[in-house]
Amino acid sequence: MDLYEYQARDMFESYGVPVLPGIIADTPAEARAAAEKLGGVVVVKAQVKVGGRGKAGGVKVAKTPDEAETAAEAILGLDIKGHVVKRVMIAAGARIAEEYYFSVLLDRANRSYLSLASFEGGMDIEQLAEERPDALARIEVNAMSGIDLAKAKDIAVAAKFPAHLIDKVAPVMVRLYEVYTGEDATLVEVNPLVLTEEGDIVALDGKVSLDENAAFRHPNHEALEDKAAADPLEAKAKAMDLNYVKLDGQVGIIGNGAGLVMSTLDVVAYAGEKHGGVKPANFLDIGGGASAEVMANGLEVILGDAQVKSVFVNVFGGITACDAVANGIVAALEILGSSASKPLVVRLDGNNVEEGRRILAEANHPLVTLAAGMDEGADKAAELAAQ
Ligand SMILES: Nc1ncnc2c1ncn2[C@@H]1O[C@H](COP(=O)(O)OP(=O)(O)O)[C@@H](O)[C@H]1O
Ligand SMILES: [Mg+2]
Repeated sequence: MDLYEYQARDMFESYGVPVLPGIIADTPAEARAAAEKLGGVVVVKAQVKVGGRGKAGGVKVAKTPDEAETAAEAILGLDIKGHVVKRVMIAAGARIAEEYYFSVLLDRANRSYLSLASFEGGMDIEQLAEERPDALARIEVNAMSGIDLAKAKDIAVAAKFPAHLIDKVAPVMVRLYEVYTGEDATLVEVNPLVLTEEGDIVALDGKVSLDENAAFRHPNHEALEDKAAADPLEAKAKAMDLNYVKLDGQVGIIGNGAGLVMSTLDVVAYAGEKHGGVKPANFLDIGGGASAEVMANGLEVILGDAQVKSVFVNVFGGITACDAVANGIVAALEILGSSASKPLVVRLDGNNVEEGRRILAEANHPLVTLAAGMDEGADKAAELAAQ
């Protein structure tokens, strides 16, 4: 889960990372009031989860509350790379002397953490990495020893900070690393980290991605979720504890095991090419225990997707055998009643497959078609979706 800048700002503050005061506003009038409260020069900043807001017109300096109101009027509703601005942050204006870059992130490829830092910030970091790779230090961070003061100084030296700034910037890096580990983040990025005219180091923009696998350790993270912005079907699935990802297609998919579901998406996309380009509508892994309730929940979410025209249930019976899955499907269709209104193609294989097929054949549900194999099932489901 990515955080908004204002959420990252608050998180930084609670870890003692130097930040400037900021107040969120949802209307131009609130922006004016916030600017009045802060006093002096402020910066009105679009709160969208995408970088490059400055260049897109989403960051504006305002010298008076009047100007803050006008700036908020211009920014609210703005579309920045497909993200519509619904909220702004009114931040105290910094008098910037220099801009730097610092981040720490999970480096999956090297099974380690990685810190990127540069004395030359203020530029798009991808652009810096490409055009001036020497200016961007890449320092591996051992997960056990982390970034202590000595390590932070090493990073600052590698990033080409001049000697007189090392002792100033290193403690801020240590605190940012404390945010990273303390909150189970996979990314903490500050661009720009600035030196002010007053000589202070301040994190002026923050990006934080949290590891949702660690959510159980952080009951406070749930409140950071932007429920209104989430896809309603994904939100519903999440509430039902389902592993569901909405995609942009017409064939609903239910499978057990992430690998099987991924390959089901592939075969459906492939089969769909022959049927006018229909595509899978979702990823849904119902896991090992394909109980009637889980099956009903899964079907309910998928059938709630107006784009879905057919559903392909592709289950390999393992610990939960095919007969249990078949009973689950029959019971799920009963639970759903008339709200189950789209054709279902079912392919079962594995443990107790004969019994499973017999149960489905006997139930003889008008919406259900049995498929002998995965390719056949995908083809049938794509064909039904194309009709
Ligand atoms: N509080 C602030 N005071 C002064 N200048 C700011 C402030 N916040 C941002 N800026 C300026 O605007 C630029 C872009 O803002 P930033 O928050 O980094 O957004 P983005 O990275 O999405 O473009 C910064 O590099 C900085 O020069
Ligand atoms: Mg930035």
